[in-house]
Amino acid sequence: MIEQRRLGPVVGLGTWNTFGSDATTAGEVVAAALGAGVRLFDSSPMYRGAEASLGGALEPRRAEATVATKIWASSVDEGRSQYARQVEWFGRVEIEQVHNLAAWRDQLEWLEREREEGRVDKLGVTHYDASAFGELATALRTGRFDVVQLPYNPREREVEHELLPLAAELGISVIVMRPLGEGALLRRVPGAAELAPLRDFGVETWPQALLKWVLSDERIDAAIPATSRPERAVENARAGEAPWFGVEERALVEELAR
Ligand SMILES: NC(=O)c1ccc[n+]([C@@H]2O[C@H](COP(=O)([O-])OP(=O)(O)OC[C@H]3O[C@@H](n4cnc5c(N)ncnc54)[C@H](OP(=O)(O)O)[C@@H]3O)[C@@H](O)[C@H]2O)c1
Repeated sequence: MIEQRRLGPVVGLGTWNTFGSDATTAGEVVAAALGAGVRLFDSSPMYRGAEASLGGALEPRRAEATVATKIWASSVDEGRSQYARQVEWFGRVEIEQVHNLAAWRDQLEWLEREREEGRVDKLGVTHYDASAFGELATALRTGRFDVVQLPYNPREREVEHELLPLAAELGISVIVMRPLGEGALLRRVPGAAELAPLRDFGVETWPQALLKWVLSDERIDAAIPATSRPERAVENARAGEAPWFGVEERALVEELAR
């Protein structure tokens, strides 16, 4: 079990589908996020150029950032080449995750050596689909991962059955993907009157209510909303501050998200 379990609760920045290889947008969004206090940045070789753009955007303030990226490969050779490119872009990787459980037993062998020798800090494993949560639990039970990344929002709560209790029991940090349901939860935006009971919790907008809903679960360490808009990165970051919701506020957000 790792000693310093908790990464958060924090709001990080995801990079799926928001800037890809567009270095200008990446620079603006990442600078805004850093300025608002965001320190955790998630990427993957799957995200069409996002790793390279993120690496460039972080360069001026790299020491302040925690880079969580992924190995998404069916063979060890391919996984190692992805890692070599990441080291070029980021200098080092703080949290290296096995993306979508791809060849996870094979990748874990060499990744554990990287961790043992101090070149990565933590190892993680991710999946987005509930049909893979049984295998994700199997991977966590090996005790060889420090971090799990999974989907969690008021409309996607499958992880409450097994994965969140298991992560808490094993002392595994939890990073939440899709905290805004890939934007689907933002199609109906509750009005100011509906959000009024959340104002004392620092919530001014609906995306902030959803992010605070995620982070108010004590088992969660980080939510990593993605955005292509700098001002939204700032808005989202504000949800990473206490006070946290209690049962009543969480229930209200669930009701509003229906
Ligand atoms: N989706 C997956 O299956 C998956 C899998 C593995 C890992 N991840 C990781 O998890 C991260 C987060 O998940 P996600 O990107 O799929 O979904 P998400 O963060 O739940 O939603 C992203 C969407 O929300 C919009 N958005 C963000 N902040 C907003 C705001 N304040 N106001 C209005 N719209 C806002 C963005 O559009 P704009 O650009 O227009 O702001 C974007 O379309 C990914 O980027 C990735 O790093 C995701």
